[in-house]
Amino acid sequence: MPDWDLLITDARIATMRADAAGYGVVDNAALAIANGKIAWLGPAAEQPVESAGEIRSVAGRWLTPALIDCHTHLVFGGDRAPEFEQRLSGVSYEQIAKDGGGILSTVRATREAEIDTLYDPAFRRIREMAANGVATIEIKSGYGLDVANELKMLGVAQNLGGAAGLSIKSTLLAAHALPPEYAGHPNRYIDLIIDEILPEVVERELADAVDAYCETIAFDAPQIAKLFRAATESGMRVKLHADQLSDGGGAELAARFNALSADHLEYTSTTGVRAMADAGTTAVLLPGAFLTLNETQKPPVDALRNHAVPIALATDCNPGTSPLCSLPYAMALGSRLFGLTPEECLAGTTREAAKALGLFEDRGTLEVGKRADIAIWNVNHPRDLAYWMGTNPLDTLLVAGLAVS
Ligand code: NIG
Ligand code: FE
Repeated sequence: MPDWDLLITDARIATMRADAAGYGVVDNAALAIANGKIAWLGPAAEQPVESAGEIRSVAGRWLTPALIDCHTHLVFGGDRAPEFEQRLSGVSYEQIAKDGGGILSTVRATREAEIDTLYDPAFRRIREMAANGVATIEIKSGYGLDVANELKMLGVAQNLGGAAGLSIKSTLLAAHALPPEYAGHPNRYIDLIIDEILPEVVERELADAVDAYCETIAFDAPQIAKLFRAATESGMRVKLHADQLSDGGGAELAARFNALSADHLEYTSTTGVRAMADAGTTAVLLPGAFLTLNETQKPPVDALRNHAVPIALATDCNPGTSPLCSLPYAMALGSRLFGLTPEECLAGTTREAAKALGLFEDRGTLEVGKRADIAIWNVNHPRDLAYWMGTNPLDTLLVAGLAVS
């Protein structure tokens, strides 16, 4: 039995370790993998003499942690291209939602869809994500909005990962919109989530966290607080769609429940940022939705930096506000629209995204003992990942040491 399964040589490594400067670069490097984990990495000159089952030169290519997409809604029925056209002719997202379109039109299509009809296009999207260097994907429910259809979505999400060789974290987002059968009765719907949907999901271990949409067109803070209390009591971590279209105190609410992340944050105040810093809640920024909705109010990036809140970046892949499957393209948008540095963009899709999913101990940086989730790139420097727009420089994606893309 060799000591290592795979030894990668002639590499340049951006470890993205938090305790290293910048990208945490190791030049003229090698990296060894054993049992799906990183067994050694460092300058080739310091490499211990061990036996390796396979030795592969990457001819000077760059290695980074595999990317992590920590906020997606990639399982859904139908699409919203007609609504996209409507918005381009001047109708707002809120108006479309109030008229029964928006999220609710995807709810209708998702409820009608058979499992295969949901699965096949989602599988294509997930393969596209892997082809762009993503090894871990968070997938939310939220287009079913009743027991059977939320379970159906989460079941599809769970099956997708295994089939694609990727790692999936699934999130119960039953509090995404008020289903039509509960029109005028949001509190009763929150009770349905607490009394029926959440217990089923917990019992079947179908989700890793609970999310909600805190917004004037969705649910208010007291309704979400009630749900979060129940979620926390059943042992689930929470996260929140917060302050996307208005400041509804979402960041503060998320912090109050020690949320893993608060996401969007365009209208978050400095008080909200401070609360997130105190709670250790990660900020997840979603430039694809910002761009698609033609937003002008940017998330408070300087305040997040000043308060040392971890900043993650994700695609928000969904049919309404962010039909985007490429996380490198989200990096390109994050730098241009929000002023994030290319280094922050890469940290945001690796180390900080791992924190947003509670996975930092296991992945998100290249360090001995972490899972060998590694992206190998044809770039001159890791900054190129945010610099280029719409190209795909991935050479190879390793998940737990095995090539999947
Ligand atoms: O993250 N903001 C709410 N949820 C999604 C949009 C979902 C949809 O429009 O279908 C988002 O942008
Ligand atoms: Fe979202």
